[in-house]
Parts: sequence; structure tokens; C-alpha cells
Amino acid sequence: MLTPAAIESLFAREGSSLYGGEAISQAEHALQCAWAAEQQGDDDALVVACLLHDLGHLLSAQRDDALARGIDDLHQHRVLPFLRPWLPADVVEPIGLHVEAKRYLCAVDPDYEDALSDASRHSLALQGGTMNPRQVAAFESHRQAERAIRLRRHDDAAKVVGLATPPISHFLPRVAALLRVRA
Ligand SMILES: [Fe+2]
Repeated sequence: MLTPAAIESLFAREGSSLYGGEAISQAEHALQCAWAAEQQGDDDALVVACLLHDLGHLLSAQRDDALARGIDDLHQHRVLPFLRPWLPADVVEPIGLHVEAKRYLCAVDPDYEDALSDASRHSLALQGGTMNPRQVAAFESHRQAERAIRLRRHDDAAKVVGLATPPISHFLPRVAALLRVRA
């Protein structure tokens, strides 16, 4: 069952692993991402999507060194069945699209790829590379495309070594507000 306490303990247990190829931990990355969304006035669903977007890495037996070993771990998809019963589409779908959003931005924003970190550029190739025009059109037709792009921009910025953020407890009330209560 997905609860704020379960998320908090998963972060406490697994969050200190390094965020693949970057000099910060998974927990630092997630908190920086959610903090960026909050500071830019995004709604609860987007802040929570930012907090949880890489939960697939924390649930993965391969952890986040998979990309470094040349394997696309498909973390953006693996996490969806875990989240979908409990959280609304405004949280879940942008998470499922956040890798596609990188491939999309490489195709439409000439400056985007150059600004990616080395690790993110390396994983791009494994994840299918820059989108072709047909893939761009398909992505743009998705109802959650804009939200996925916002998540992606926060994701890309959330790699600052030593940046102070609030602790996870600061964000958990937003998670609680969105969780579906199950009978
Ligand atoms: Fe990320």
C-alpha cells in the first residue's frame, strides 16, 4: 500500500544510493526536483510527480547503476503499476512520460541537449535518442505532455551538489492530499 509513511521509509532505506552518474543521492535529487516545482508555483500533483518520478530506481534491484552499465532499466514504466492504484493521472502520467519528454525536448529545443549532464546525455542514447517528427507529433498529442515537460525541466535542474532543500516530511502532506482512500 502506498502511504506517506511507506514513501518516507523507502527514501530512508534506499535514498542514499547515488543518482546514476551524478554526484548527488537519489533522495537529494527527488527533493531538489520537488522543491523546484514548489518554488515555481506548480500544483500539488506536479510537486508530487517530481518527488516520486524516479521511485522506479529505488524499487529496482538493479538500482541506478544500470544506465552506467549500458542497460535502460525502464524505471519510468516499472513504477507505474505501483503508483496507479493510489494516485491520480496528473501525478502518474507525467512520471511515465518523463523520459519521453527528454527525447522530445532534444528534438524541439536546439539548446536542450547541450545543457544536459553527461550522464543524462549518455542515457539518452539508451532510451531511444532524439525523437523523429512522427514521435514528436505523437508526444504532443498526449494530454499530459505539458506536465511531463515541466517535470522534465525540474528533473534536469535537480542535480546541484550541496543545494539545501526542505526534508521529505515537508512534501508528504501534498502526497496525503492526493492519495486515494481505499475501502
Ligand atoms: Fe530524475
